[in-house]
Amino acid sequence: MSKPLRIGIAGLGTVGAGVVKILAARGEHLAAASGRVLELVAVSARDKSKDRGIDLTGVRWDDDPLALAAADDIDIVVELIGGSEGVARDLVEAALKAGKHVATANKALIAHHGTALARLAEEKGVALNYEAAVAGGIPIVKTMREALAGNEIRSIHGILNGTCNYILTEMETTGRDFADVLKDAQDLGYAEADPTFDVGGIDAAHKLAILASLAFGTQVDFANVHIEGIEKISATDIAFAKEFGFKVKLLAIAEKGEAGIVQRVHPALVPEGTPLAAVSGVYNAVAIDGDRVGHLVLEGRGAGEGPTASAVLSDIVDVARGLIVPPFIVPAAKLKAPAKPLMDEHKSSFYLRLRAVDRAGSMAEITRALAEASISIERIVQRGGKSDESGRMPVVFITHETDEGTMARARTLLAKHEDVAGTPLVIRIEDGELR
Ligand code: HSE
Repeated sequence: MSKPLRIGIAGLGTVGAGVVKILAARGEHLAAASGRVLELVAVSARDKSKDRGIDLTGVRWDDDPLALAAADDIDIVVELIGGSEGVARDLVEAALKAGKHVATANKALIAHHGTALARLAEEKGVALNYEAAVAGGIPIVKTMREALAGNEIRSIHGILNGTCNYILTEMETTGRDFADVLKDAQDLGYAEADPTFDVGGIDAAHKLAILASLAFGTQVDFANVHIEGIEKISATDIAFAKEFGFKVKLLAIAEKGEAGIVQRVHPALVPEGTPLAAVSGVYNAVAIDGDRVGHLVLEGRGAGEGPTASAVLSDIVDVARGLIVPPFIVPAAKLKAPAKPLMDEHKSSFYLRLRAVDRAGSMAEITRALAEASISIERIVQRGGKSDESGRMPVVFITHETDEGTMARARTLLAKHEDVAGTPLVIRIEDGELR
């Protein structure tokens, strides 16, 4: 058997502790599978005295995570600190520069600096592995890197944030409000330290930017992801969507169109009966359309100790086996320049909910305004015909296909309309690629 692979772990939160547990529980199997003993040499975390339920006997404790990058007795640094800047970035850069392999679960870091870090890793001939950064336990990075090499990828549709999917599922099944359910998700440990990253769509956008790069051979381009979160979705919307035969999901989509690549994260109405509509709770899923393989859907847990640590271990085992590949499939120098944002050209049908003044003729006025804005209506629903205390009633329109610009103009017009209270809510309907 070759020399042990000597590991240093920075960050002993849920995931870090999970990695230590797997190394302890499956050490013999992992050594047999990779041909090398996986030896935990050192760890670094904030609080040495905290009980994490792990045995660190014989493992060096470094208060400064950067010491792991400098240590002569470490071959691979496992970065589980998080954040696109600061210590996590310094550590990964220092480790790569020192010629050490890196495994990280840090989606923000890879989304913001992936291309530059890949260049650095390639210069040094070391691995930069980040399976755990995208969709937790789903082996999507390996699938893209290895299994789908024979395909030109046409699109990716993902449910990439477990917190949002959990919230939307709970709102659907219990009819509870968004804020109330968010608190549950935080208590269950699904949400990021800053939950606005989850509910605002940023966490899913980090993951999407990484997937888009793998799928289309482009430099990681987080800046050009169109991002909308789920904060404005109400239990009413979810109930209306159900009447129309849809579920509400936060989708992360990257697709190749005639004019280029679009990356977008936003709530969407997904037809019931499609694979993504069936993904519930904290589960994530990625639907890939490849020209040879056709449609492929991977589903699994996107967060939590076990799934994320499982993904980190696969990265470590790859290194132990000597599988060192360019982080984004092709060498960083061959990645194409970022695609231009093409969201304005995107077309779909839309769900449009507004609160109409409850008076004779108001619906006629509103539909006229929509016609004047060139919006063609497919269906209208007025829930129970009852107005709320302020004399407004919720009305939902499903539109025929139209482009983003036209819809935005119609929304602005309606927001100013005397028969409409407040700003209407618009949700895109995704029913093409998903069937
Ligand atoms: N906060 C993330 C989620 C964790 O809810 O999916 C994994 O990135």
